[in-house]
Amino acid sequence: MVWPNEDYLKLPGSYLFSTVARKQREFSAAHPEAKIIRLSIGDVTQPLAPAIIEALHKAVDEMASAETFKGYAPDLGYEFLRNVVSEKDYKARGCDIAPDEIFISDGAKGDCGNIQEIFARDCKVAVCDPVYPVYVDTNVMAGRTGTYDEKTGTWSDVIYMPCTAENGFAPELPKTVPDLIYLCFPNNPTGATITKDQLQVWVDYANKEGAVIIYDAAYEAYISEENVPHSIYECEGARECAIEIHSFSKNAGFTGVRLGYTVIPKDLKAGNVALHALWARRHGTKYNGAPYIIQKAGEAVYTPEGQAQLKEQVAYYMKNAQTIREGLAAAGYTVSGGVNAPYIWLRTPKDMTSWEFFDHLLEKANVVGTPGSGFGPSGEHYFRLTAFGSCENTVEAIERIKKM
Ligand SMILES: Cc1ncc(COP(=O)(O)O)c(C=O)c1O
Repeated sequence: MVWPNEDYLKLPGSYLFSTVARKQREFSAAHPEAKIIRLSIGDVTQPLAPAIIEALHKAVDEMASAETFKGYAPDLGYEFLRNVVSEKDYKARGCDIAPDEIFISDGAKGDCGNIQEIFARDCKVAVCDPVYPVYVDTNVMAGRTGTYDEKTGTWSDVIYMPCTAENGFAPELPKTVPDLIYLCFPNNPTGATITKDQLQVWVDYANKEGAVIIYDAAYEAYISEENVPHSIYECEGARECAIEIHSFSKNAGFTGVRLGYTVIPKDLKAGNVALHALWARRHGTKYNGAPYIIQKAGEAVYTPEGQAQLKEQVAYYMKNAQTIREGLAAAGYTVSGGVNAPYIWLRTPKDMTSWEFFDHLLEKANVVGTPGSGFGPSGEHYFRLTAFGSCENTVEAIERIKKM
């Protein structure tokens, strides 16, 4: 007799974005004339940059000839990509990360979810609240989180670090010492960042307590201010305590193309075991690599043409962020984010719950956003809008909200 994995059964039923989609479908069915604008899911809308399209075409052609055809990729990913990542994302920023400390993958979500596998089942996990749900749910699946309290929306064995207006949406060091600390800056959903000095405090803390930080840098390309770190390895001692995860989705529009990477420095240990070796073993056993064609497209991200085109793309989205942030502020909303991140985090008016505001916005402005409470209890009374829409839709959405 076969039984399901009971840890999966502990996951609470409705997933945030399916509920958002269902409510939108129901509204559309009832109001077929409404032109709905979606500023909800963090998916990009601009086409791939010409330098990337050209690299994709070239790589496809290589597959057509026996001399240049490629089969399975090397375990860690192609050297041409790992070399350029090491040079441009790390050495150019003064970070000492070697190509063989970089593991190419098919995106950050898988890496964020899978990385917990190389840690003991009884590790104590700390997450920001609100949080990108993948960090928590994958630890639930692994049986690491204890029991769920429907009322508070929290797990008994997870350490929550509230990120609120009072602390500038930056977590404080937890009272209970964790083993694994998930940090994501620039942050999804709040759009907040922390300074290099603030991040150094976390690195020092992790090294003092023997904890590991899993640093999700998916939105690094959106940093516009000085003194906001692009990588945790800008902090002293991070090689001994941090894993960093990157995505090509938001900086280069690869949400449907799929590419990312994870850095595990060889100095990083759990007990006396090098985590690099464990992740290499996992990668080799469970993963056969991102496609050659896609890794070539990834390489094009770092060419001068690619860099110039992507800078424009990021600027396009950040102009939307400015439109949303300034438009909402002018309309009397309390807003944050949108300066170093493509997310705007707004306080719901009149103390509405996040879902009440969702319904209100959909009904009165035909705009769909994401209720903050879906990201954790401290997200209640907040709402996330994304800057990833088209410029026209973003401008129209804000005009409609202003008239509400
Ligand atoms: C914080 C964060 N990490 C990771 C991801 C996933 O990125 P990818 O498309 O590379 O899987 C997302 C996607 O929205 C995200 O918001």
